[in-house]
Amino acid sequence: MKSYEVIWDAINLAVLDTLPPDTKFSLSKPKNLSFGDYSTNAALLIGNLLEENPMSIAEGLKKNFLENYLSNVARIEVVKPGFINFFLSDSVLQDVALDAFNNPYTFCGNVIVDSRTHIVEFSSPNIAKPFTIGHLRSTIIGNSIASILLHLGYKVVKDNHLGDWGTQFGKMIVAIKKWGDEEQISNSENPVKELVALYQKFHAESTAEMGVVDDTNPQLTEEDEPEKGTSPLLDEAREWFVKLEKGDLEARRIWKICVDLSMREFSKIYERLCVSFDTFWGESMFENKMDVVLQELKDKNLVRESKGALMVFFEDKTKLDPLMVLKKDGGTLYATRDLATDRYRKEFYGKNIVIINEVGKEQASYFKQIFKVEELLGYFEKGQRIHVKHGLYKFPDGKMSTRKGNVIWLADVLDEAVKGARALSGGNLGDSDIEKIGIGAIKFYDLYRDCEGDVLFSWENILNMEGDTGPYVQYTAVRINSLLEKARTQEMVPYEIVLGKSEQDIARIIEGFPVVIMKAANEYAPHHLASYLIDLARTYNSYYANTKIIQERNQAGLFVSQATANVLTLGLKLLGIEVPSKM
Ligand code: ARG
Repeated sequence: MKSYEVIWDAINLAVLDTLPPDTKFSLSKPKNLSFGDYSTNAALLIGNLLEENPMSIAEGLKKNFLENYLSNVARIEVVKPGFINFFLSDSVLQDVALDAFNNPYTFCGNVIVDSRTHIVEFSSPNIAKPFTIGHLRSTIIGNSIASILLHLGYKVVKDNHLGDWGTQFGKMIVAIKKWGDEEQISNSENPVKELVALYQKFHAESTAEMGVVDDTNPQLTEEDEPEKGTSPLLDEAREWFVKLEKGDLEARRIWKICVDLSMREFSKIYERLCVSFDTFWGESMFENKMDVVLQELKDKNLVRESKGALMVFFEDKTKLDPLMVLKKDGGTLYATRDLATDRYRKEFYGKNIVIINEVGKEQASYFKQIFKVEELLGYFEKGQRIHVKHGLYKFPDGKMSTRKGNVIWLADVLDEAVKGARALSGGNLGDSDIEKIGIGAIKFYDLYRDCEGDVLFSWENILNMEGDTGPYVQYTAVRINSLLEKARTQEMVPYEIVLGKSEQDIARIIEGFPVVIMKAANEYAPHHLASYLIDLARTYNSYYANTKIIQERNQAGLFVSQATANVLTLGLKLLGIEVPSKM
């Protein structure tokens, strides 16, 4: 058992009769080591409850711990107004350093026994549309969540729910037929750019036909937008989508071209980002699986007709807007496909699943609607549906939109990052290392922040070697690797040796790794891990600055350096970031 678990259990046991069962006391790892390795507020909570002095309760608990439970704690301190701080014993610190030293890949791995399959759905870009920065965030965060869960021993399926169906394909087909040259598009360097240009042309022409100003809300999916009136072009597009849904061969042929060309493009991006999926269950896969959902909705009296469309209306107290599941022309919607997707997942993987959708926070109320409908349908119980939301990337020059033309192309952003990394390297590094630094910098910048917040894009901060950045952590690992290399040339080989005071301070942080990755997994929040890696790197670097490991043939230093490099490398890997060979 990990030391924090021992402490946790001991506190639980000690407060069992006093605190009501659901009371959440905290057991935290203080940043400031003088407050101990762990600190709890349990006595404060009890004091509050019993209206007694928390200090004397804390003293009572301390006595109880020392007498009964905690052999792996060297010292317990009570501090005002009633915190209890635990200082781990030397042997615990020694053991944990050895564990990290010996198990570079499996440190704190496979510790969870859980029979549920976790479906982590992420990335999910739209066919014939740009792979946006929003999809990049989803790709980076979703991939890291999946890696963390996998490392801990959960069963994980990584799914890409491609946006490869919907009314926009009616528009695409019309645009390709009217203004496109299929052969030229297929042979183009960047076919998605061509498709997007055609799509924008369709939008401009149809808007001109209607004589309205484009004031569409870019946060709504197109299907959910209120009808803006009609035009011959839009009518034609609607007809083509209905044809596509009915299986018309020409419609399918053009649709397939769009899918293939986009996938060619997206695969390059995934390869560059070192991200892979187990399944690509795009929206189109559920095209013939929606009828049964619609039938179930009808059977359970959950839908009503409204202006020719089929809608789910929610109870007032839910404060949810009605959700359309079938349009008046019989066309299905994004929502209909989501319901069919989740129903199918349950059928395919069995009931024992957790579905995690990593999707931008602008879809938060949409997912609330979906989760509610799925609950009403009896598909899932509490805790089986999770929306991990991410905020927007803010660029100095504003938002992006497919239709308005000011798109920021992801490949350009990645190229720019790699260019920045090249400049940083001063011409000394190989291409593969430069790529690792550039892409790693973007990933870390994203993962270091609580994903729900918005992120201000700033090259200066992304690539800053001194800041809380990917390159900073990578550099720390590279520096240790070269130290170990140098040690080898001096015939110093790292092996376990008793840690001194300053090496123990590093071991204290290593000891926190399991707590951090459990927290990252439980909250689906990789930023806990990213900021942990910064702490570890900073602590190590100040140790390194004050220690002459090689000159003084400091074996304990070498031992703890290797353990640190292992944890940094593993931690970065769980964020999807590689360590370059040189920096
Ligand atoms: N393709 C969608 C978009 O780009 C994201 C899909 C998210 N997943 C889902 N199950 N709805 O907005």
